[in-house]
Amino acid sequence: MKADQTTALHLDNITRHYGDLVILEGVDLKLARGEIIALLGPSGSGKSSLLHIAGLLEAPSQGEVHIDGHATSNMSDAERTRLRRDALGFVYQFHHLLPEFSALGNTSLPLLIAGVKKAQAEQEAERLLTLMGLASRVHHQPGQLSGGEQQRTAIARALANKPDILLADEPTGNLDPKTSDVVFDALIKLVRQEGLAALIATHDQRLANRLDRIFVIRDQKLLEVEKT
Ligand SMILES: Nc1ncnc2c1ncn2[C@@H]1O[C@H](COP(=O)(O)OP(=O)(O)OP(=O)(O)O)[C@@H](O)[C@H]1O
Ligand SMILES: [Mg+2]
Repeated sequence: MKADQTTALHLDNITRHYGDLVILEGVDLKLARGEIIALLGPSGSGKSSLLHIAGLLEAPSQGEVHIDGHATSNMSDAERTRLRRDALGFVYQFHHLLPEFSALGNTSLPLLIAGVKKAQAEQEAERLLTLMGLASRVHHQPGQLSGGEQQRTAIARALANKPDILLADEPTGNLDPKTSDVVFDALIKLVRQEGLAALIATHDQRLANRLDRIFVIRDQKLLEVEKT
């Protein structure tokens, strides 16, 4: 079968339950290349679960996740790990930066793991950090960065491998409103500039309104809603 060239991520009839507890039921989503979709829903509605499934960090109970046209359910762990490394970038709600590495070290690490030479990895990391407005902070360790700077570093790190798809789980959720706006602006600018597709979970309707489409998880289902 010919791979779908226009769809970056396809969630096909995804169900997720923990024992008797159904979290997601019959979820369908097609994320086109270059498109940015907001994922809304109250706390506990399943946003993180959906992102973890889309990011191949967790398997769905039923259904299929297609990444760049590749069905993933029958892949070996090694194949899935490689696809995750090559095609996906993940930004967590809490940055998960390594405390003993600088911003540059954290951002270049995925490239070094992928076998890129150190000088080249650091050059790319510096480019991304500069685009995130952190040119003068590259040698700071996470403990020497503000919360917004840490989150911008985490975004740069997620983009280092030139993924096709960025998955972001409330990337500005624990920042004050002003910093949240600055980081969100930087995130969207970079995603557009690099031509990525992105699925971004947020509690913030105002931020969601700035993205291409909005989906909400309601009663275990995923629904597209109008911008407000
Ligand atoms: N390992 C698990 N075992 C049982 N239930 C779980 C497990 N992980 C998550 N859940 C439940 O699944 C539901 C969805 O959780 P999830 O973290 O996806 O929500 P969320 O929309 O991301 O919430 P928040 O906005 O608070 O981050 C929650 O009710 C949670 O209690
Ligand atoms: Mg969550």
